[in-house]
Amino acid sequence: MNIRSAELKHDDYIGKYVSIKGWIHRIRKQKENTFLLIRDDRGGIMQCIIDSSKTNNLTIESSVEIFGILQKDTRAPEGGYEIKADEISIFSISKNDYPIGEYQSLDLLLDKRHLAIRTRRMIMVSKIRSSVLYFSRKWFIDNDWIEVTAPIIVKGSVEGGSTLFKIKYFDEDAYLSQSVQLYLEAMIFSLGRVWSITPSFRAEKSRTVRHLTEFLHLEAEAPWVSLEDLIKFQEELISYVIQNIVKSNKQEFEFLKRNISELEKISPPFDRITYEKAIDKLRNEELIIVDKDSSRKIEYGDDLTIDSERILTLNSSKPLFVIGYPLKIKPFYVKEEISKEGLGIAADLLAPNGFGEITSGGLREDDLQKLEKRMVLEGLQKSNYDWYLDLRRYGSVPHGGFGLGIERLMRWILNITDIKDTLPFPRTLRRIYP
Ligand code: 4AD
Repeated sequence: MNIRSAELKHDDYIGKYVSIKGWIHRIRKQKENTFLLIRDDRGGIMQCIIDSSKTNNLTIESSVEIFGILQKDTRAPEGGYEIKADEISIFSISKNDYPIGEYQSLDLLLDKRHLAIRTRRMIMVSKIRSSVLYFSRKWFIDNDWIEVTAPIIVKGSVEGGSTLFKIKYFDEDAYLSQSVQLYLEAMIFSLGRVWSITPSFRAEKSRTVRHLTEFLHLEAEAPWVSLEDLIKFQEELISYVIQNIVKSNKQEFEFLKRNISELEKISPPFDRITYEKAIDKLRNEELIIVDKDSSRKIEYGDDLTIDSERILTLNSSKPLFVIGYPLKIKPFYVKEEISKEGLGIAADLLAPNGFGEITSGGLREDDLQKLEKRMVLEGLQKSNYDWYLDLRRYGSVPHGGFGLGIERLMRWILNITDIKDTLPFPRTLRRIYP
């Protein structure tokens, strides 16, 4: 059996002969005694004191099991318990050139990511990530949504051709999916409200702190919904996830020094602004210049830049929905407002404190002719989307959905600048190894 440090650090075990399995995190040798910090397989730490004669060959990251009596000593780190050890059983002695130490360049940590994920910081992030996924799934299950899966190898783009990864599929060209939305749209006809968590791929040429080339995409789609319904789903889902992880992962947040008091307050309703008002607001901002060469200010019809998203939420502690984008800056599937030509029924959600967009969603164009026209305008090859158009030919219904980037959400929740730090093996323009 494997008892971890968190479980052992309990008065019931004081005076008992116990053991702990793990890796040597730190070694501090004194003449007679050696202090070992053992890191267990969930990142917990236990101090062990053992006769120095038994630790001659031990190195950092050697894997061991240590046996001894549990005792209390207020000087022992993380809880004041330690093991007065009398025996070490060794699984493997680590080579003594372990490359990860206390002060490392970011590049080295990424080159050696397979080892760097053992750092306690990364362990805490990964535990919170697991809880984000768990509580997201739980929210959907509890609210009567069906989880589905969709293909990743596809024939067409969803979010525009410029970020498609092309692959060879036997003798054909194919692409890595940017979003499973079109497949979820197909599945609402047989399953009603559906959702999935799928990797999405974007050949993002820019290096930014919020773009990955492969990210985990939580997407949901439902028939007979309004934009208001979709906004409410997102408010409830995100609030539920955050409320629960701050309770279930208190220690991890503490370790990461993330102040959770502002997260604890996240609850519906979130703030809202129309796209049009957002542009007006940004036009009064000196800092928002769309084109550096001409010093042109942002205007109606421009997409929101990273800077503009940051400014819109800089001093707010609530997420902000930006509602009603012009169709020309949204993909072909966005439904047009009937009373206002050119306006899309869509909303993006911006995280507070300048973290920028975390979800994007809205109603889907359910009129066959309008959709076909939009596809022509975007230069999409009809033969790759004929199956999708069938959804409008046979029993089309009003419907909509949204997509949430898990790493984007994590970036805000953890207050981490660089999106690469929210997952174990990030994929970016320059990084595909390890
Ligand atoms: O805004 P996007 O491109 O919207 C869609 O893909 C829709 N088809 C989703 C849907 O309605 N089913 O992407 C949705 C979200 C963004 O808000 C962002 O959180 C995340 O996916 N995202 C990225 N995350 C990390 N790296 C990237 N390169 C991302 N691109 C999008």
